[in-house]
Amino acid sequence: MTSRRRLLTASAAMAAGAGGLTAVGVTALPNGSPEGQAKAPAHLRGAAPLPYAQLISLDITLGSERADTLRAAHQAIRAIDGGSVAAWLALGEGAFPSRTDKPRHLKRMPSFAGDVLDPVQSHGDLLLHITGSSARGVRQAAEQTLRALSQQQVRWRADGTRPENRIEDGRGLSRNPFHFTEGHGNPATAAEMTERATVRTGEGEPSWAVGGSYEVIRIIRLATDFWDRDTIDEQERIIGRRREGRWLDGTPSTERAVFAADPHGKTTPLDSHVRRAAPDRRNPPPMVRRSYNYDRGPDDQGLIFSCFQSDLEKGFEAVQHRLQGEAMAKYTLTTGGGYFFVPPPGDTWLRAIADS
Ligand code: HEM
Repeated sequence: MTSRRRLLTASAAMAAGAGGLTAVGVTALPNGSPEGQAKAPAHLRGAAPLPYAQLISLDITLGSERADTLRAAHQAIRAIDGGSVAAWLALGEGAFPSRTDKPRHLKRMPSFAGDVLDPVQSHGDLLLHITGSSARGVRQAAEQTLRALSQQQVRWRADGTRPENRIEDGRGLSRNPFHFTEGHGNPATAAEMTERATVRTGEGEPSWAVGGSYEVIRIIRLATDFWDRDTIDEQERIIGRRREGRWLDGTPSTERAVFAADPHGKTTPLDSHVRRAAPDRRNPPPMVRRSYNYDRGPDDQGLIFSCFQSDLEKGFEAVQHRLQGEAMAKYTLTTGGGYFFVPPPGDTWLRAIADS
């Protein structure tokens, strides 16, 4: 049986809802901290995200006032954000019934080639994204938020962790379930993160949305048992980097590899993940990845892939299309997630959209 068929079989048997937290190897980092970070929006605060997360997707129940629900959600998130918790609210397409004030790219996440989206862990009108330096703190913050929104319908929940969470050379790194270091391809400065991830004026977006970000969540199940049967060398050729981040041509992890010197992919295969994701080393994909691992037992482990961008098409979608047919595809199965929009800090956006 191929690894993908096993993933699909496991998917059918999958239990919906929250998964267990894997605490092993998770290192708590102080939240963001240096100068300038204090005012950063919660979703981009700190070079490395906090090591624990819970994502809760809600549907606005029929009969609830949209304006009241948005206000309640905003207040509930504001009450928990700060200190050892960084939390934000993101809006799905369903939060914009009139469409006139909707961010221009916001839509229901499509099913990409190979996806098997499970409706019970996909989409949602609102996303509460709660991160923190301890699993307990995140759980408490999540329960407090849900009490304030008890009239709304929970659609799905997902718990995540970032094992070996750390900052190196300005980048937040962690270890994914395939044992590879994640995060080297992200920007090294807060200014560059903001540049890639936040909407600016002149981009055709409603004015309330300026300073906000498109957030993509993909619940990606990984066939870790099959992966672990490959040699480390094979795994590294599938990813296109060594586990620790060094490039296959020996270039250190913090520098740019020169793919032009390897046009036929002898050293770094043309269907490797990094080569597909970012073929032009001078123009990295305009997105910031801040993903978490999830672990719901031996048959269901993977990534809560999460990325932020100012433009969904140039950011996530362009990369996702290029990844079609990559060597890693047979070890992965996307079963959920959604497209959301994180409003800018403050509450001007709320006044602009809640009463429109
Ligand atoms: C299927 C699960 C995935 C795994 C296990 C995975 C793993 C990795 C690893 C190990 C790296 C190299 C280190 C780094 O730069 O972070 C990487 C880079 C990257 N990945 Fe993924 N990834 C996955 C899914 C995705 C998806 C869905 C996207 C976007 C559609 C994506 C976009 C990228 C980008 C843009 C880079 C940076 C490339 C570079 O600048 O060199 N990845 N990924």
